[in-house]
Amino acid sequence: MWTLWAMLVCLAGGHLASATLCRTYGMVPGIPGLPGQPGSDGSDGENGPKGEPGPSGQSAAQRGEKGFPGPPGQPGKVGPMGIPGMVGFPGMMGMPGPAGEPGDYQVTHKSAFSAARSISSYPRREQPVRFDRILASAGGHYENRYGRFTCRLPGTYYFTYHVTSRGNLCLNIKKGRAASRGERVVTFCDFVQSSFQVTTGGVVLKVAMNESVWLEPTEKNSLVGLEGSDSIFSGFLISPEA
Ligand SMILES: *[C@@H]1O[C@H](CO)[C@@H](O)[C@H](O)[C@H]1NC(C)=O
Repeated sequence: MWTLWAMLVCLAGGHLASATLCRTYGMVPGIPGLPGQPGSDGSDGENGPKGEPGPSGQSAAQRGEKGFPGPPGQPGKVGPMGIPGMVGFPGMMGMPGPAGEPGDYQVTHKSAFSAARSISSYPRREQPVRFDRILASAGGHYENRYGRFTCRLPGTYYFTYHVTSRGNLCLNIKKGRAASRGERVVTFCDFVQSSFQVTTGGVVLKVAMNESVWLEPTEKNSLVGLEGSDSIFSGFLISPEA
């Protein structure tokens, strides 16, 4: 036991131990001792420094695949009316139209006549007086053969007569269709006992197409047509029918 202790002293601190002492016992090395029992656990160390933040974790639910587009929605409400656009430029002038019908106002709207009686005998009662000698006839609507004016231009006319009588004379202005006896429009009478005199009458009449106008004496028919004592019947269109 002593030997072992001396050897340990020599091994542990050669400098501290007396060289003499180690030399004294170091000549015969002892057998190494058995390893000692392990010591009890040390106390816990201090907490270590905070570690680096870890990678972000993945979200729990995985997103599904994109769906199909839904049906279109209902149309929206009509918006307010916009401001009206600017007036466009006028279009191009069209082609000139065809020439019109030739005007015939001068031809068709003329109707006038004056005719004299050159027959010395009295006209027959209730028969048209023949004024056989045409003085003027615009339109040719007076028929000297019958003493009738026949309307070809409906409208308003003026008829007048200036006749020489040698006695009593009553003259009707009559109007009617050619075949008819016509209707009396007006009657003028003049009663004289002697000599020649001129009697006159006139009327404005509306005359229809193909209607005729003429003079007709009653039984008082002393109308003469003599050189220097003329008897004339006249008529003319005042205004044609619209
Ligand atoms: C006028 O008389 C003519 C023939 O003279 C005839 O053709 C025409 O139809 C008549 N017109 C009227 C409106 O009576």
